[in-house]
Amino acid sequence: MDLRTTYLGLELAHPLVASASPYTEKLEGFLRLEDGGAAAIVMHSLFEEQVTLEEEMLDHYLHYGHESYAEALSYFPRAHEYRLTPERHLDLLARAKERVSVPIIASLNGVSRGGWVEYARLFQEAGADALELNLYYIPTDPALSGAEVEAMYLDTIRAVVESVAIPVAVKVGHAFTAFAHFAKGVEATGAKALVLFNRFYQPDFDLETLSVVPTLTLSRPYEVLLRLHWVALLYGRVNLELALTGGVHSGKEAAKALLAGAQVAMMTSAILEKGPRHFQTVLAELEAIMEEKGYGSVAEMRGAMSYGRVAEPAAFERANYLKVLGSYRLLP
Ligand SMILES: Cc1cc2nc3c(=O)[nH]c(=O)nc-3n(C[C@H](O)[C@H](O)[C@H](O)COP(=O)(O)O)c2cc1C
Repeated sequence: MDLRTTYLGLELAHPLVASASPYTEKLEGFLRLEDGGAAAIVMHSLFEEQVTLEEEMLDHYLHYGHESYAEALSYFPRAHEYRLTPERHLDLLARAKERVSVPIIASLNGVSRGGWVEYARLFQEAGADALELNLYYIPTDPALSGAEVEAMYLDTIRAVVESVAIPVAVKVGHAFTAFAHFAKGVEATGAKALVLFNRFYQPDFDLETLSVVPTLTLSRPYEVLLRLHWVALLYGRVNLELALTGGVHSGKEAAKALLAGAQVAMMTSAILEKGPRHFQTVLAELEAIMEEKGYGSVAEMRGAMSYGRVAEPAAFERANYLKVLGSYRLLP
């Protein structure tokens, strides 16, 4: 069974990758992920706010004093609440590179073009094998059009791609009006891969205190469907590698990711729940499925159920919607 794959120009032993998670906030976490069987590791992100807010706060403090600004910033984590400063983040990446032999993909997380994208180059200097740029933005301004938001995304991606020689992957959410068109735009920036999709974390309402509170729930396997849909639709139609993140908990989801056309299947929630050795379990399950279905290699399997290859591409289109709604049977 040939499980090898490539991703972002890297040769991987198999297609199961550790997506960004708190494991990589410590050197020990990198070692555990490698030991558990991850073929590559995405480091947890350095956030735009970590770089810019620190500078802005210092600037404001020096000019106007602390109080007036404190309120506006109160909802952001304070600099000390981030477990790593930008400098320690870079230092950890460099140390992890010395100790771990699987590739490490650094992660930059923000939205606007600005001084913080400089960190892309610093990641490269610290030894990152590739870079993942996570763009997570909530367009709350009614004056801002979808086209403007997309232009801002593409501008930021271009700034990052131009500042490094290592390959860049772009991780985004699914909330686009015309995602296939946006993907073509990403292709034109020179990025090498799309990572589909960020999970959006909606805040909850606390009825006790009547306050809006952050909530974190880990993913469930059904969440893979949204990703499968778009990986299958884009495979072979954009000149980008596709990585699937969201809902991969077992060999079944990993197999489906490859059949849709993913280069790699990424895991965070399942690893947080079951520990890094779960990579080995999922890999064994994937191998069993490949054997049962007669696939000798990951390459042979990739994209076999993509939009361009299935007998009924309408299954990925509006026809599926009609079928699904029509299939519901009322209780007698
Ligand atoms: C606790 C936690 C921390 C995360 N930190 C990051 C991060 O720093 N950067 C990032 O791009 N994604 C981050 N993610 C998102 C994951 O990398 C992943 O894309 C997402 O959880 C969906 O995959 P899953 O279903 O396998 O969990 C985080 C997720 C969790 C649960």
